[in-house]
Amino acid sequence: MNSVIVVGSFNVDHVWRCAELPAVGATIAGQYATGPGGKGFNQAVAAARAGVGTAFVCALGDDAGGALARQLAAADGIGLRAEASDQPTGTAGIYVDARGRNCIVIGAGANGTLGAAHVAADPELLAGARVLLAQLESPVETIEAALALAREAGVATLLNPAPANAPSSIGLLRLADLLTPNETEFAALLNRHVGERVEAEAVAALDGASLHALCRKLLPHGSVVVTLGSVGVFVSHPDEQLRGDAQTHYRVGAESVSASDTTGAGDAFNGALAASLARAPEQPFAAHVRYANRFAALSTERAGAAAAMPRHDEVQERFGA
Ligand code: RIB
Ligand code: NA
Repeated sequence: MNSVIVVGSFNVDHVWRCAELPAVGATIAGQYATGPGGKGFNQAVAAARAGVGTAFVCALGDDAGGALARQLAAADGIGLRAEASDQPTGTAGIYVDARGRNCIVIGAGANGTLGAAHVAADPELLAGARVLLAQLESPVETIEAALALAREAGVATLLNPAPANAPSSIGLLRLADLLTPNETEFAALLNRHVGERVEAEAVAALDGASLHALCRKLLPHGSVVVTLGSVGVFVSHPDEQLRGDAQTHYRVGAESVSASDTTGAGDAFNGALAASLARAPEQPFAAHVRYANRFAALSTERAGAAAAMPRHDEVQERFGA
């Protein structure tokens, strides 16, 4: 049974590791590697390796990238529901510097053609599912339709509003029971949708009460989890929906690991969070966040995006159950 349904992108990532990110006009040397990525696929792999039944809804081209997605989904036991696209499979060009920081260019390709009809085509998809997880690397109407279908079916909706420059609407955001922006995405959504001017760089330093108030403005009836990289995570719940926690808002510190590649760390967090929620919905929300933090921390010690996702038993071995 598929407990987590991920709707989103698959990309073939082309990664260059370099001492520093290239400046405009510069030509520099780096070490090249290629591997599977795309926020959707990374999150699906994370959920599957976290140990819950996972399905992945995406669009693939009729090419080597599409074949790779099929092969890797099967290897991780992911139920793939791929729409055939006349566009090439999605790609990403990624530079990673010596400190593990990255910048990314996306070629959406097939991801840009994923249709709402494809998501709705399988009436069995949501039967028995607990969490639907989506991001914004696919057409916004498709993501909106997927969240609405899940809501109708009583499946919890988790929206990772990434990347920061993706189109969105307040209506879309409010289809989420749970919204997981990083600080850049959080600032962008506040500026765009509720007229709050906040600098991304200032988010982590805001006090809890101010952050909570901003989260409440953005998503009055849902929980917001703002991921703050190496600083950890800020959680904000509506008063009426504490999800087993004792407080409406709190921080959870990051695990200390020696990060060598943070590509896909946010995806690791989201996939693991969805999996943990699906596996043990009765647990306090803070426990799910702690698990997702640990899972994401381990993913940063390895190169690559989807390939870097740890497994449930590795997380337990490293941090205890
Ligand atoms: O979040 C990381 C991912 O963003 C990469 O795998 C790349 O494909 C882009 O989608
Ligand atoms: Na990584």
